[in-house]
Amino acid sequence: MFETLKQQPADKILQLMLMYAADPREQKIDLGVGVYKNADGITPVMRAVKAAEKRIWEAETTKTYTGLTGDSAFTNGMISLLLDESVARDTIAAVATTGGTGAVRLGFELIRMMNPKARIWVSDPTWPNHIAILNYLGIEIKPYRYFNAETRGVDFDAMIADLQGAEPGDAVLLHGCCHNPTGANLNLVQWQAVADLLNDRGLLPMIDIAYQGFGDGLEEDAAGTRLIAASVPECLIASSCSKNFGIYRERTGILMAISADSGRQALVQDTMATLNRLAYSFPPDHGARIVSTILNDPDLRADWMAELEEVRLSMLSLRQQLADELRRLTGSDRFAFLAGHRGMFSRLGVSPEIVERLRTDYGVYMVGDSRMNIAGMNSKTVPILAQAIVDAGA
Ligand code: LMR
Repeated sequence: MFETLKQQPADKILQLMLMYAADPREQKIDLGVGVYKNADGITPVMRAVKAAEKRIWEAETTKTYTGLTGDSAFTNGMISLLLDESVARDTIAAVATTGGTGAVRLGFELIRMMNPKARIWVSDPTWPNHIAILNYLGIEIKPYRYFNAETRGVDFDAMIADLQGAEPGDAVLLHGCCHNPTGANLNLVQWQAVADLLNDRGLLPMIDIAYQGFGDGLEEDAAGTRLIAASVPECLIASSCSKNFGIYRERTGILMAISADSGRQALVQDTMATLNRLAYSFPPDHGARIVSTILNDPDLRADWMAELEEVRLSMLSLRQQLADELRRLTGSDRFAFLAGHRGMFSRLGVSPEIVERLRTDYGVYMVGDSRMNIAGMNSKTVPILAQAIVDAGA
């Protein structure tokens, strides 16, 4: 039967990871997959994570199963971190998932279960795996315009115009902060306008937030999500701990569902637990336990927040350095948007040919749509990169 299988389309981001690894050039620069790297090019284990793991190892007496929804210390800690007091706690259902991707997949499945005809509106562009998962699940995708290639900012009028075409029962996928791949984000006035539109048209928002703390700060990055959650009757939120806790391989994420009132919460919770059971039974626990240990201990939490802030500021500084260097080399403000974008990514806005030339001639790896991972640079490589961008014809 295996002969019936067809080659699956390669994931562009993961393909790039392999190409980079296979490139023997020493000067190569990896701006591909969204993984934080420090100035030495290392993805470190955060101090608080190391300390939490030690505590867990010393205290843990069993490896028996947790519940289908995961450990409540984790889900409660994450709800507080993301939503604070913005919505009543007894309206929120939450399950631990296998990373943020697991939460996204579960959220899409829940939407399909509730309304098999639901269409899901996604920003154009979005994270390629959103599209791949939706296609796999057979859910109709409706793109909404999001990015203005001229200004490299959000094309908000176009976004709203497109979402006016959504019908009651459709869902709208939004990036909570640090839009992937563009780096261009909504401001709070725009978030409010989106909330109004969702209410007017009877649409279900699903927010994917994978970079809380990487943009303007932990609280600031949650503001759009909190505003939507507080403004609409129902909302889904998929969140990842991969980046802000740096625990990529532990696969730690959460899906939250907010109901209009507390009466529905138990049913939603039960359904999400069942979806976990059908997919993989129990969600992974180690990463979730690291996160809850950190969030529930004042010292570890403070240290984690301090290190996360260092990470955030280092990316902001790199953005500024690259924008400055490109201004110096080109004598123009064409690349000033790099300093204004937030999060791990910016879309440089150059052609696929230039992206290709950057890779083959200069050993600079970025995704084909010219998405670059800001954390893939350091102060030493910024001038080399800027020169390559200019020389490649950008
Ligand atoms: C990315 O967009 O590079 C990250 O979210 C990693 C991934 O799984 O694609």
